[in-house]
Amino acid sequence: MATVETQKQGDVAVIRMDNPPVNALGHGLRVELEKAFDAADADAGVKAIVLTGSGRFFSAGADITEFRAPMKEPFLPRLIDRIEASNKPVVAAVNGTALGGGLELALGCHYRVAAKDARQLGLPEIKLGILPGAGGTQRLPRAVGVEQALQLITTGAFIDAAKGAAVGLIDKVADGDVVAAAVAFAKEQVGKPPRRIGEKMIDKASIPAGLFEKARASIGRHPSGPVAPKAAIDAIEAATVLPLAEGAARERQAFAETSGSPYARALQYAFFAERQAANLPGIGPDVKLRDVKTVGILGAGTMGTGIGLAFLNAGFPLTIVETTQEALDKGVARIKDTLDANVKRGRATEAQAKERMAKLTPSLELEELSNSDLVIEAVFENMALKKEIFAKLDRIAKPGAIIATNTSTLDVNAIAAETKRPQDVVGLHFFSPANIMRLLEIVRAEKTAPDVMATSMAIAKKIGKVGVQAGVCDGFVGNRMLAAYGNEVQAMNLEGAMPQEIDGALEAWGMAMGPLAVGDLAGLDVGYRVRKERKLTGEAAQFARVPDKIVEMGRLGQKTGAGYYKYGSDRKRQVDPEIEALIRAEAESLQIKQRPIPADEIVERCLLRLANEGAKILDEGIALRASDIDIMYLNGYGFPAWRGGPMWQVDNVIGMKAAAEKIKAYEAKYGARWKIAPLIERLAAEGGTFAALDAKKK
Ligand code: CAA
Ligand code: NAI
Repeated sequence: MATVETQKQGDVAVIRMDNPPVNALGHGLRVELEKAFDAADADAGVKAIVLTGSGRFFSAGADITEFRAPMKEPFLPRLIDRIEASNKPVVAAVNGTALGGGLELALGCHYRVAAKDARQLGLPEIKLGILPGAGGTQRLPRAVGVEQALQLITTGAFIDAAKGAAVGLIDKVADGDVVAAAVAFAKEQVGKPPRRIGEKMIDKASIPAGLFEKARASIGRHPSGPVAPKAAIDAIEAATVLPLAEGAARERQAFAETSGSPYARALQYAFFAERQAANLPGIGPDVKLRDVKTVGILGAGTMGTGIGLAFLNAGFPLTIVETTQEALDKGVARIKDTLDANVKRGRATEAQAKERMAKLTPSLELEELSNSDLVIEAVFENMALKKEIFAKLDRIAKPGAIIATNTSTLDVNAIAAETKRPQDVVGLHFFSPANIMRLLEIVRAEKTAPDVMATSMAIAKKIGKVGVQAGVCDGFVGNRMLAAYGNEVQAMNLEGAMPQEIDGALEAWGMAMGPLAVGDLAGLDVGYRVRKERKLTGEAAQFARVPDKIVEMGRLGQKTGAGYYKYGSDRKRQVDPEIEALIRAEAESLQIKQRPIPADEIVERCLLRLANEGAKILDEGIALRASDIDIMYLNGYGFPAWRGGPMWQVDNVIGMKAAAEKIKAYEAKYGARWKIAPLIERLAAEGGTFAALDAKKK
């Protein structure tokens, strides 16, 4: 329950907000805050006011769960205006995280004193598809300057107390007790006129020429979609010409407009879905986590080094084992190069890079892994090799160690069966480049112990990944859906959509990269080897003809300078008439009559193949929730968060019934690959949605 407590320290009233877990400014807290300020203002014995929060949070902002309901008084903007209007000096003692409405509340206070270890200060609303709605677009530029505010608001970036002080957001950084420092600061202000940022007018001469035009021009592929970034820029520009009340009115109108956009709904869904994914049914907080302090990796190839970097960046000591000195040296060099590049790009300091490198132990001895609390195998994708390695690891790994495989296709149950401790075995399926991609598919095998699942989930968070549970099947969740998507892309190629048309349509819709360009980036030989091993027949064999021929021409993608596209020294893709001719010739030999395929059909067919496979996966219990599937696509496959994910698209944009009808129509036209998922058929008949199905499982 939200409470606000006022304590008097001499003639300073200290108002403390307490609304666990994050001091969100829900209705209850706003009511109590207004009462507390009214009382402090009315109390003649109070000469100054300090506002602070309890725990690690000053306040994480508006309560996002209230966004769908009508707002109730006192509205946050009015409450903040009321605090700013106070005639007694008001000092925010920013004890920790101050985000969104929380930072806007601090900006309404006349001064801000922040704890030295406050690391999350910012206006992240853009990430929820909205703009700050309680004066943030008006007060932040007045406090820190227009250019800085524009950067903070359009990226939603967090800054720490020191940076806050450097840019003028924070008046004082407190080394020790932040409330005591704020009380002392407040006492110094008694008798002086309060400094109200809202009353300041911005000096237009301080704004670099063309700043807003440039900002608008760069919205193009903003991760929050097209609506909120433009609204935020417009509102900040209004702050440069209008007094607070008028600028804030513009902001509020834009806030209402953006809040109602499907992009905002999608981004807010993604926020909660990501947190929901960490909840594993039947595994509560009573399950004790295993202690993971040291990590070992087997294989220093593409994945081993990427995974290694993720752990080193998070501060874990790491042992990495290879079979040859040459492979080991190559892997270590790759890790070092990436750490150095991060220093050059300003992502880490030189000292940090050195410290991380010092935590790396390269080795050619498997026995070196006997001290690791977590061992991750990332050797070639070959079942016989993995089985052999797991049998050895069973002998070497210490009791209670988690033994994980990064396999992307193989049966984790079969791998676990090579050990006498299958309960300790789990799939930790990272995505390439593993130091960057956020998704971690946590593959729960038949015998994986609950504490291994819970520990894997906690580790994902520690290394900055989004952990999502998947069951064992070919391709698990993400890649199994990707296979259906890739299959449709090949069908469309033969039917007449050229690579640049397919990639162009999907990228214009918001995908980070089209599927054929991704193939060129990842290397076309990977899929080629899998196809050859599987000895495809029928339609699948037909669809393999173009990609197989491309590989057989020596075009493996970017690494050979050509794949579906040609690449110059700038690595930019260029359309290649040779590939267009190849696709046409293959279509002709298969007697497929080509036609132009419109962009919206390309997008629809890709989306429906993804969601149809997703529905089968959900029905089979391989994924726990539809929202888990969406979270995988947003974090592992470049699906735009402002589009919610393939399952969200069916629920909210296409509609379940329409999706079922379209899938059936495609099935009638194209046959078995479009066979409708029974779950979609059922939900369409019942008027159900994936979201309602997920809600039933809570
Ligand atoms: N409203 C409601 N619930 C929130 C919330 C918010 N603003 N922020 C966090 N929560 C909830 C989470 O859903 C989670 O709930 P469960 O435990 O039930 O899953 C719980 O609080 C803890 O959150 P995290 O697991 O994310 O904890 P963390 O310590 O890893 O991160 C955080 C904390 C950095 C604050 C992160 O939660 C976050 O980024 N929150 C969103 C902040 C935000 O976007 N604020 C702006 C809100 S919009 C606004 O303020 C509009 C305006 O201008 C008026
Ligand atoms: P890679 O070929 O780049 O690296 C494999 C490394 O393992 C090589 O350096 C090899 O020398 C080493 N190795 C082989 N046998 C070994 C042994 N007995 N002991 C120690 N090291 C040994 O392969 P990549 O791409 O890193 O793949 C590794 C695993 O990760 C595979 O299972 C693959 O399916 C999986 N994976 C790959 C992804 C990708 O995009 N490349 C994505 C997700 C998973």
